[in-house]
Amino acid sequence: DHACSKKFEFYCLTSREPSSAVFYNIYPQSFYDTNADGIGDLNGVRAKLPYIRDMGFTAVWLNPFYESPFRDAGYDITDFYKVAPRYGTNEDFAALCTAAHEYGIKVVVDLVAGHTALEYEWFQKSALPEKNEYTNRYVWTDDWLKNYEGSCIGGYSQRDGMYMKNFFYCQPALNYGFAQIDDPGWQLPMDHPDCRATKQELINIMEFWLSLGADGFRVDMASSLIKNDPDGSGIRAFWQEIRQLFDEKHPECVLISEWSYPTKAIAAGFHIDFLIHFNLPAYTKLFRAEPGRNVSDQFGGHSFFQKDGNGSLDDFLSDYLREYDATKGKGYISIPTGNHDMPRISVQRTKRELEVVYAFLMTMPGVPFVYYGDEIGLPYRADLPSKEGGFNRTGARTPMQWTEGKNAGFSEADAGKLYLPVDEHGVNVAEQLADENSLLHTMQKLIALRKSSPALCADGEIEFVNRRHNGYPLVYRRWLGSDEYLVCINPLDVPEVYAVGDGWKTALANQTVRIENGQLTLEPFGYVILKMARNSV
Ligand code: GLC
Ligand code: CA
Repeated sequence: DHACSKKFEFYCLTSREPSSAVFYNIYPQSFYDTNADGIGDLNGVRAKLPYIRDMGFTAVWLNPFYESPFRDAGYDITDFYKVAPRYGTNEDFAALCTAAHEYGIKVVVDLVAGHTALEYEWFQKSALPEKNEYTNRYVWTDDWLKNYEGSCIGGYSQRDGMYMKNFFYCQPALNYGFAQIDDPGWQLPMDHPDCRATKQELINIMEFWLSLGADGFRVDMASSLIKNDPDGSGIRAFWQEIRQLFDEKHPECVLISEWSYPTKAIAAGFHIDFLIHFNLPAYTKLFRAEPGRNVSDQFGGHSFFQKDGNGSLDDFLSDYLREYDATKGKGYISIPTGNHDMPRISVQRTKRELEVVYAFLMTMPGVPFVYYGDEIGLPYRADLPSKEGGFNRTGARTPMQWTEGKNAGFSEADAGKLYLPVDEHGVNVAEQLADENSLLHTMQKLIALRKSSPALCADGEIEFVNRRHNGYPLVYRRWLGSDEYLVCINPLDVPEVYAVGDGWKTALANQTVRIENGQLTLEPFGYVILKMARNSV
């Protein structure tokens, strides 16, 4: 049980103060460049805080900004304690946090807990044949030809053994130990002093960024740290210990996992877990089942949010409701618009089609995350060559487009020096701010509506009331106490009707609301959020 009174509202779980957090996910190199080198920077994030606040976001998650050779766009770190020069300095980070807090915005940073870059001094020492303090900092086998489940790389140095990679070859796995030992020659138990030392270092890293002003962490590949852990008991124990430390020392800070298995992540102590494109198919089945919409086509089938109506709500609910019921009151599920690891949500969607997606995301329980640019429908650039290990993720990482001006207002650098290209004739923030019917304003209104009522926020109850016809139209109740809403969404390109009865009034809609004899007619890609009228005059 967690006392909640002093905690930040973004994960207050006791319903005394329901969470109204809405996150903005910023890819720092592509947000805003303040020194004309063509790469976004931390001062750029600071400069745009008024925009972030005006949109209604209450927190930001920043992708990695640490020193790195950028073979995986900064998820390959060479100094856990240092901002990469291209993003600025540690002082800039502290200044960003101070300024964000003045705006009432929390700052969550990426924690790449599972691996580093090869160039990190730790790994360089670990790779030496002579035993030293870092020999066991990474997972190495004890024979230059001995692999482990195909995950090891040989021949890196004169050390006799292969190192385990955590993701790319250039991301050697930090050694937090094995839950089960098959080969005692090189596999260390979790409580081995060297594995404990790795964990202590991770805690030191967290303490360091908290001391500079961070409000929490999004943990990269959170489930990957403990090796040979078939029942997950190792990784659960690992994070629970850190959660306990947070409860004692940093109860106001948040732990968010990249796991995409909320029951497991929240049992391990995370406050929030994403439902995204791997592990459970639920997220893919909502928006991303078709070719070109996902980073890999592993799940296939049809999206529920697809105009031809071949999807099925049950494909989503069969996972979601189980995960939701099991985590309710303990942690939150986040369904993000997208992130830096998949094509943008705008792929194969018009503005109207995006509106219904956003109406859904902003009225669901849990904590919404908006990937920068999705609020203006920034397109996915399938044409771009891979940059910094991005592959087909690269097209989702192009700069934010602020104005119609040079480099779309992203940077004063020569166009050839930009991190990735912009489309000066494409969508931009200034144009959408000036148009009250823009996607940006739709997002802003949806966020404002969400925050106006605890029933629509993280802890509000939910019931899906239309399970027939594969769930088209999508209709669900949200309520808390006496406050109640009915959300009606039509993802299809044909009109849909639904019996909503009487006694509702419109809270927000992207169409003219027509309810005749209790029958609501939804236009193609129309949504209507109704507030139960019993509390109104
Ligand atoms: C996570 C990150 C991804 C990165 C990988 C390795 O999935 O989101 O961008 O490539 O971990 O760190
Ligand atoms: Ca810059």
